[in-house]
Amino acid sequence: MSELDSRIPNNVALSQDPRLQRALLRWQPAFLNWWSEMGPEGFQGDDVFLRTAISVEPSGWSHFDYVRMPDYRWGIFLAPPEQDRRIGFGDLAGQPVWREVPGEFRTDLRRLIVTQGDTEPASVEQQRQLGKTAPSLYDLRNLFQVNVEEGRHLWAMVYLLHSHFGRDGREEADALLERHSGDADRPRILQAFNEPCDDWLNFYLFTMFTDRDGKYQLLALAESAFDPLSRTTRFMLTEEAFHMSVGETGVGRIVERTAEVMAAGEDDPREAGVFDLPLIQRHINFWFSASLDLFGGEVSSNAAHYFANGLKGRARESRRQDHAALDGVYLMELPEDGALRERDVPLRNAMNEILRDDYVRDCERGLARWNRILEAAGLGERLTLPNRRFHRQIGAYSGHRFDPEGRLIDEGVWQRKSGEWLPTADDREYVRHLMVPVYEPGKMATWIAPPRSGVDGKPIGYEYVKRP
Ligand SMILES: [Fe+2]
Ligand SMILES: [Fe+2]
Repeated sequence: MSELDSRIPNNVALSQDPRLQRALLRWQPAFLNWWSEMGPEGFQGDDVFLRTAISVEPSGWSHFDYVRMPDYRWGIFLAPPEQDRRIGFGDLAGQPVWREVPGEFRTDLRRLIVTQGDTEPASVEQQRQLGKTAPSLYDLRNLFQVNVEEGRHLWAMVYLLHSHFGRDGREEADALLERHSGDADRPRILQAFNEPCDDWLNFYLFTMFTDRDGKYQLLALAESAFDPLSRTTRFMLTEEAFHMSVGETGVGRIVERTAEVMAAGEDDPREAGVFDLPLIQRHINFWFSASLDLFGGEVSSNAAHYFANGLKGRARESRRQDHAALDGVYLMELPEDGALRERDVPLRNAMNEILRDDYVRDCERGLARWNRILEAAGLGERLTLPNRRFHRQIGAYSGHRFDPEGRLIDEGVWQRKSGEWLPTADDREYVRHLMVPVYEPGKMATWIAPPRSGVDGKPIGYEYVKRP
């Protein structure tokens, strides 16, 4: 392995491209500087048992070892090229995919890549204080694994910007390190990535719902006619699966502890130092609705343009029959004159909603698993997803009030009831009160059950993070 390849592990023949090398080696110190200023605070010197991506071979793309986070080797990996890959949808279906960016789609592709790229460092920034209150070393390690992989996803998008977009690409790559989550002057592009995520309940819900939006955006980009984007996102999806499992099992373990306390006959779960189900439900309502916004408007001419031109497809396009999507309509209920009315939307203009449908179904599977935990404990309570119209800030339902069942309500009802539906100041106080770090190997905070198993075959009590 050349010295360059050990500094930036890659499967894109970086050592044969001096121009790109120079660009990335210039960007790398800025990235490391960002990581030390905006990455996990207080743990940069710890030895963390981390997985590093070292190749894209399914037989062994990753490697586990102790590493200090600033020494993590953020690499550039694309899924292997598909022989004779053809555009799979839209007006250009059947034509060969592009290895370079066509001039007429340069602005669109840059916007798609920058929007995706912006979310990656944003989530690291949102989560930077969490290590200080980790419920166990196992969870602490998982947090840092997610963080370094989001850092790698940033590298993946920056690689595309540097290798295919010339000077604008370099400027965009710099700007990805200059916007910051929640910054009043230079916030991150998408709102869910400016919301605070500084306690572990919010972290698990974020990785469950917001990282899962990432999965569907990546699935849609994996269909892109711009082949380097498709290959990059296909490899990112392998890492994204881990982030979502952290969220889904994290909430599952919280529900398990709460169910245990409730099944033991405790009337007020807060007496036993666990989260009560209504509080968990309010957090589900918040993060699900914030994540739905990330898919964009219900009726979207941008989405139609992306689809028509092969830039962004539907998730798993090849499993569908009609790749043109020219004839059909999508039946939507849209607010009009104070009521919901059914409208036929041309299929291509409904692409955001079609992707949102897949996402909602995926979230429902997670909810069903959490509810099985309640059922197994003999409890009648269930957690639910709110209707997709509830608490939306973007799209056709924003600017109107809906209850969690999706019924149009007036402002007065919303003001009276929203405290039952969304996290309150009192919830936040209680959540904070439970956030006490547990760094003893194998021990768990009061409010979360242990995981089913450890990482990479190691026991749950393994010293996943060695504090100096
Ligand atoms: Fe990511
Ligand atoms: Fe992620």
